[in-house]
Amino acid sequence: MKSDELFALLRRRGVLWPSAEIYGGAQGLYDYGPLGAALKRRIEDAWTAWFVGLSHDYYVIDPAEILPEAVVRASGHLENFTDPEVTCETCHNAFRADTILEKVRPEGVDGLTSAEIGEIVRARGLKCPSCGATTLSVPQPFNLMFGLDFGVTGHERAYLRPETAQSSYLSFPRMWDVGRRALPLGIAIFGKAYRNEIAPRQVLFRMRTFTQGELQIFFDPENFPLPFDRVRDEKLPVVRAARRLAGSEAVEMVSAGDLVSAGGLPEFYAFHLAHTYRFYRDVLGVPTDRIRLFEKSDQERAFYNRIQFDVEANLESLGGFKELAAVHYRGDYDLGRHGQGSGKDLSVTLTGGRSVLPHVLELTFGLDRNLWALADVHLGKDGERTVWRLPTYLAPVPVGVFPLIAKEHAAFALRLSDDLSAAGIPNQYDDAGTIGKRYARMDEAGTPFCVTVDGETIADGPRHGTVTVRTRDSKAQERVLVTDLPHRLAPFLRPPRPARG
Ligand code: GAP
Repeated sequence: MKSDELFALLRRRGVLWPSAEIYGGAQGLYDYGPLGAALKRRIEDAWTAWFVGLSHDYYVIDPAEILPEAVVRASGHLENFTDPEVTCETCHNAFRADTILEKVRPEGVDGLTSAEIGEIVRARGLKCPSCGATTLSVPQPFNLMFGLDFGVTGHERAYLRPETAQSSYLSFPRMWDVGRRALPLGIAIFGKAYRNEIAPRQVLFRMRTFTQGELQIFFDPENFPLPFDRVRDEKLPVVRAARRLAGSEAVEMVSAGDLVSAGGLPEFYAFHLAHTYRFYRDVLGVPTDRIRLFEKSDQERAFYNRIQFDVEANLESLGGFKELAAVHYRGDYDLGRHGQGSGKDLSVTLTGGRSVLPHVLELTFGLDRNLWALADVHLGKDGERTVWRLPTYLAPVPVGVFPLIAKEHAAFALRLSDDLSAAGIPNQYDDAGTIGKRYARMDEAGTPFCVTVDGETIADGPRHGTVTVRTRDSKAQERVLVTDLPHRLAPFLRPPRPARG
């Protein structure tokens, strides 16, 4: 589906819509409706089960969203968290440099200096997308953070967090005391990040506030014990930076073991890259031929990273591979910078007495982009019907409950809906229109199971009564004892976890 068509469908179904729609919308801001809000919760639960489930020493915290200026100064965001902005000297509109260069340089502008970008604009005679004049400026760095006047005097500066990660670094000493005083220690945060993007676009891909899930793993660079054998033979679809710069963007299938022995990656990095790939394949259900792990070169990667692979998916709606998540080896950059900024030594003493400033491996995930990807990949036509073939544990409404005839079967069906809710099975009661129309609505919403109460259910009584359970993907129907429903459905609602132990 094209982007406009997909967005129209998601809006019609109440998954999401532009914020402040009655005022014409606000660029880069979207509101999630009932299905979208529920889907976000399911994705968050699946991400947490998978990544925080990697170790019993990984924890979720929920910190403040506002960062004092000292924090973003130390982190480098005040100085470096910028995008090159081009302005038109005729109409005074501003643009991201990569959007201006998009047709002549589709690979983006990462790694180019302002002067180099300016030279391409001049040499190619690129025009302002708004007024058509050839009066585009040399790019200037534009800081993407939202600054705030903090407190009643307005003299203190603070910032809406541009990434959730920072609070994990700030919380590290406290978590060291709260936890087992051992490395590796993982701190995960799920929540909003805020960026004053120059050119919000592609719906959920460049928003001004969006949700991130980020796990920071603090580890001893001399010793990160891992069950590497669990991933050694896993073949990963990688695009290595060196090959790409030599002219080949083709995906190579390379085992995690070979990425270490011949490819120069540390074991801890390849291990988490493999788990991230498995998350996309086994949890989000993205077909493997649509995933690639795209390594960023020295010039392209974020200022804090030593190694960076982006997870990209090939999305029909957006015309190609798009970044959804990443694995960042940030070294001791963050604790080092915050140690200097705060004047506190953030190194820890390990059992045995060795003092170490932990390194950080960051697994970062943009929830909104992934929600869009789940629509792109799994929502489509199946003959006449439109079906969202979400993995069952991600379905916003896992179960639909219908009375076959509202007048006769509603009371029983409503009671069944309540009983399923009480058993922890989210469901939606629907008695509007024909059964066919109700199935169609649930198919579009991604509901994997629809339960219909009929005369037979009621005639057979509460102990022996059966209902029809219809499965979304196969459209197959079977009779199931009402009393069996909770334990028949529950396993489909649990997201997978990685093997530990
Ligand atoms: N802590 C590292 C960090 O924030 P990032 O690449 O800037 O790294 C991480 O962002 C993820 O957040 C991206 O992979 C993407 O999924 C999501 N993301 C970043 N900017 C976004 C935006 N403007 N709108 C929606 N999602 C965004």
